[in-house]
Amino acid sequence: MTEVEMQLRLLAACAIAQEAGYLVRRRFLERDDVLKLKFKGPQDYLTETDAEVEKLIALRLSQAFPDDGFFGEEGGGAFSESVWIVDPIDGTADFARGIAYFCVSIAFVHQGRTQIGVLYDPMADELFAARRGSGATLNGRAIKVSAIDDPRQSVVELGWSPRAPFPDYLKVATRLNDLGAGVKRCGSGALGLAYVAAGRQDAYCELHINAWDAAAAVLLIEEAGGWTNDFLTAACLQHGNRVIGCTPKLRDVLEEAMRV
Ligand code: IPD
Ligand code: CA
Repeated sequence: MTEVEMQLRLLAACAIAQEAGYLVRRRFLERDDVLKLKFKGPQDYLTETDAEVEKLIALRLSQAFPDDGFFGEEGGGAFSESVWIVDPIDGTADFARGIAYFCVSIAFVHQGRTQIGVLYDPMADELFAARRGSGATLNGRAIKVSAIDDPRQSVVELGWSPRAPFPDYLKVATRLNDLGAGVKRCGSGALGLAYVAAGRQDAYCELHINAWDAAAAVLLIEEAGGWTNDFLTAACLQHGNRVIGCTPKLRDVLEEAMRV
């Protein structure tokens, strides 16, 4: 793929993430169905907006790049050599409960490597973007991970979903606490990782997360000078993986803490 073709994809991903984000924002502000919550499974919220937004993103991408593949959290798809991996709303539980903390996540993966990662938080109007080898930006300004190297000064977000055993989560949380880290959990893994890239927190870890949640944001961390585990393996595309994204100096302690 040429330089120009890749750059076009970055620009398109930014525009599409923003357009999709405006739709998410509109649906969030007009929602009045707090008592009509729907679930895909335990602790797994279903909203009509997820599917609506994913359809919009799929349409726009297929119009711009008809030969690229597509895989979305809601509708699935296939993993071809050049494929877009999309989470229409990461932070669906917060979206459904009326909490303004969620984002649109779009990754472009070519020959098994994430080349483009774009996240748009429509409530904060924050566009995070990265292209492999070109750095990471927030609303057009370069971002980098924090310089924190002492766990006792660190803020570590530890994500959890029912896909991983809760006792394992507690084990890791306890170890992090024992190291002196400030442990927190919010409702969007994608934004949590992006916040590491922007230096707002020093690490994001989760024992299991899906490719569509984290692929774009992991690239943000790499391009912002951080360290991440080898997240997007072939198995991860199908089944998800653990994720660790942090400042380079926290790598060893976090890898150790995440051993279960
Ligand atoms: C979830 C969120 C959550 C993370 C989970 C994800 P969703 O995605 O990113 O923070 O801990 O692993 O499944 O359901 O909001 O799209
Ligand atoms: Ca998600």
